[in-house]
Amino acid sequence: MSISSAPEAAILTSMIDVNDPAGSLQRLAAAYPGRVVLSTSFSWEDQAITHLISSLGLPIGLFTLDTGRLFAETYSTWAATLEKYAVRIDAFYPEEQALQAFVGSHGPNAFYESVALRQQCCHLRKVVPLKKALAGKQVWITGIRAAHSPNRHDMQQLEWDAANQIWKYHPLLHWTTDELKAFIKANGIPANPLHEKGFVSIGCAPCTRAVQPGEDFRAGRWWWEDASKKECGLHVHAS
Ligand code: ADX
Ligand code: SF4
Repeated sequence: MSISSAPEAAILTSMIDVNDPAGSLQRLAAAYPGRVVLSTSFSWEDQAITHLISSLGLPIGLFTLDTGRLFAETYSTWAATLEKYAVRIDAFYPEEQALQAFVGSHGPNAFYESVALRQQCCHLRKVVPLKKALAGKQVWITGIRAAHSPNRHDMQQLEWDAANQIWKYHPLLHWTTDELKAFIKANGIPANPLHEKGFVSIGCAPCTRAVQPGEDFRAGRWWWEDASKKECGLHVHAS
């Protein structure tokens, strides 16, 4: 298990350059061989980071949390990514017995009934598998950007995740959506076709809808809930 300490924070911070995500990833991978991982949901952001990892041949592991409720387009993007890049992507799944008990008691679409049931579903399908994926790792890379939400706006590129006892690094935190789209286009990176249909932030199919021009980036996620409750538990912040 990783332990947060001031000297380690200083070492990690010295490896990170806000203007050089590729170099930062390279330094982290070299410093913690086999202990740096990217979680990918095949979003624009995650695809851009996958491109950097693959084109530089970095020894950074990739994993996805297959909730069983992803869009068909997300699975197609996953397959297209494997075709284009020489990377291995490990999938993590919910515990069968726990999921069977939950669906048996509450049915397949319990997330629409209450926030508590929705959070339970996210816990079973995302948070528990995430803990397995992060076991023994030192640095967790994500595609979080400041533009996603007010909560993410105040985040730091490097942060200690006490819940998962791991360092998190968000290499694209300060990229704008236009910069990201231009990077995807310029490099011919496979992208989820839903992005072009108004789905800016993409999670599970029953819990994601397209947004209208002018709506918030995350307005299409769990749209029937209060904005203050819209977190699935993957990214928990002290602030
Ligand atoms: S969430 O907390 O609302 O679900 P979001 O969709 O914004 O997260 O994605 C932020 C980052 O979380 C992604 O860039 C990715 O690193 C990680 N992530 C989200 N969903 C998954 C998933 N199903 N599998 C792996 N990583 C994921
Ligand atoms: Fe379940 Fe919806 Fe959470 Fe996916 S986003 S794990 S379907 S509640």
